[in-house]
Amino acid sequence: MLSIEEYRGIFLQYLPTQNEVREPKNLYRPVSYIMDLGGKRLRPILTLMAADFFGGNSSDALPAAMAVEVFHNFSLVHDDIMDDAPLRRGKPTVHEKWDVNTGILSGDAMLIQAYRHLEAYKGAMLQQLFEIFNKTAIEVCEGQQHDIDFETRNDVTIDEYLKMIEYKTSILVAAALKMGAIVAGADEENQNLIYGFGRNLGIAFQLQDDYLDAFGDPEKFGKQVGGDIIENKKTFLYLKAMQLAQKSEQRTLLDLFTIQPEDTDTKIKTVKAIFEKSGAVAAIKTEIESYTEKAFSALERIDADEKDRQLFKGFGLNLMQRTV
Ligand code: IPE
Ligand code: IPE
Ligand code: MG
Ligand code: MG
Ligand code: MG
Repeated sequence: MLSIEEYRGIFLQYLPTQNEVREPKNLYRPVSYIMDLGGKRLRPILTLMAADFFGGNSSDALPAAMAVEVFHNFSLVHDDIMDDAPLRRGKPTVHEKWDVNTGILSGDAMLIQAYRHLEAYKGAMLQQLFEIFNKTAIEVCEGQQHDIDFETRNDVTIDEYLKMIEYKTSILVAAALKMGAIVAGADEENQNLIYGFGRNLGIAFQLQDDYLDAFGDPEKFGKQVGGDIIENKKTFLYLKAMQLAQKSEQRTLLDLFTIQPEDTDTKIKTVKAIFEKSGAVAAIKTEIESYTEKAFSALERIDADEKDRQLFKGFGLNLMQRTV
């Protein structure tokens, strides 16, 4: 296998060949804007890695990797509308730079484009790729709906939250890996094991995203820090703080997440202080480690070269320490 950086490089060479701005420009410019804004490219890297890991050829997996990355970016364009987010990767979101209608339609076009990349495959392989891609796409919508529903509910449980992030985030990470395995012709057992690795890693990844959303460095994070607090997102930090904080602080949290205060800076400051003091921050770190460990134990069960396995482990450990 190659290094993570080499896989990223291969994907970044392929990307511009698939990203031309055609007419009507107002449809395609926002597409190339979001696709070119960068991002970590984690999911396509995982697709390419999985293809090589299971004895295939990563270059055969490029269209699948592209499908996954375009789908991911589509989901971000619509997610930013739903979350009223001003910033993405340190730049204005599509609906801020253009408008909401542009974000809706360019996002729709991206979803279709994602499918078009899969046209590169044929026969039984195409069938298998479609099955996992379709299942994932609809489950992401389900996760996103729960995420939005939770904003106005005050009885969300940690189990419900974990299910929600599994759907909105982790299964796409898992599918990215499984699609690489499918392209490599891996058997079903191995496809499922790598999917399990991705599912647990994806949960750790979204927990870390929730942590960074509150405690990330605004210079590095590239998104509006405190955005989840402003939007009353019932993240692990909030739910854990509601379990652990003193009664008076629980009351404060509940109030701040029920009415929308004018002064969002004070809301963010107050909420973050409760997250820390209650022990919710310490708890999320433990939870991230625990899901990363679960991911690694799925990986251990795959009969593969130890050096290759270490590459996936390094990837997982980097995610846990990420600041972006
Ligand atoms: C952002 O995903 C959306 C989440 C599921 C948290 P990434 O953090 O992978 O976004 P980019 O592509 O690197 O910007
Ligand atoms: C994103 O979750 C999940 C999807 C886009 C499907 P978030 O709303 O937490 O992602 P960010 O923080 O905006 O990147
Ligand atoms: Mg969002
Ligand atoms: Mg969201
Ligand atoms: Mg987030």
